[in-house]
Amino acid sequence: MAERITVPLLQQRKSEGQKITAVTAYDFTFAKLADEAEMDIILVGDSLGNVMLGYDSTLPVTMDDMIRHTRAVRRGVSRSLVVADLPFLSYQTSPDDAVRNAGRLLQEGGAAAVKLEGGTHMAETIRRLVSVGIPVMGHLGWTPQSINLFGRPTVQGRTRTEAQEILDDARALAEAGAFAVVLEVVPERLAALVTDTVLIPTIGIGAGPHCDGQVLVMHDLLGLGTDKTFRHAKRFANLNEIVRNAFQSYRDEVLNEEFPTLEHSFAMDEEQLEGIDRMD
Ligand code: KIV
Repeated sequence: MAERITVPLLQQRKSEGQKITAVTAYDFTFAKLADEAEMDIILVGDSLGNVMLGYDSTLPVTMDDMIRHTRAVRRGVSRSLVVADLPFLSYQTSPDDAVRNAGRLLQEGGAAAVKLEGGTHMAETIRRLVSVGIPVMGHLGWTPQSINLFGRPTVQGRTRTEAQEILDDARALAEAGAFAVVLEVVPERLAALVTDTVLIPTIGIGAGPHCDGQVLVMHDLLGLGTDKTFRHAKRFANLNEIVRNAFQSYRDEVLNEEFPTLEHSFAMDEEQLEGIDRMD
């Protein structure tokens, strides 16, 4: 059986120049498949608000949502490191709130680590979490919980000022004790610079090939859910088509009385059947 992934192992991967693989998952079945595929990190992203719950942002996602989905994922995983997102307002309000809510994701959800969004201003919170034994992954660049500040998803760090800020933020997260940092939708040259500068692994999504690892939202790589394609993501399957076709075939066979056949049915003794009193 393959080695269980731990936080120190991921840090070792960076020093050995070995790439880190990560994918989101939100339920038992897909988490089990990702674990069987030997994904290093399974991220229970608050993107579950979009892809599982049908919200148009991650903002309505609650701690209860995160705990329920993290627990389901955890039950399917025996090897990968399970990281759970801290949802909007569960950690920004105070380091105490962050400890309480991150603690719930570990204690009730079974996560091994948490992820939170934000740069230098999150350093104190990260220090507190790490001091009580909670590993933290940072998240810089396009940070979906700030959708109302950004307006819409756009590439972050294209100007010298923005790029400097992202580099300084990455340094601050690493110094505060974060074990890795997600870089979302930033120019690939900036991602390379951050990767070369900080000692912790960078995990890119729309951040080019030079990061220490890559993460994708499960639905984007499987072609599941929206038929929209994103520049940063590659489709490795088209489950929409497969699932739609399967549903249509099932529907057609029921309507045409082709399914079920005797092969899918259960028999009983003729004698028992005849013994039933049909009169009321
Ligand atoms: O919530 C999420 O899925 C994420 C990934 C995009 C990194 O944060």
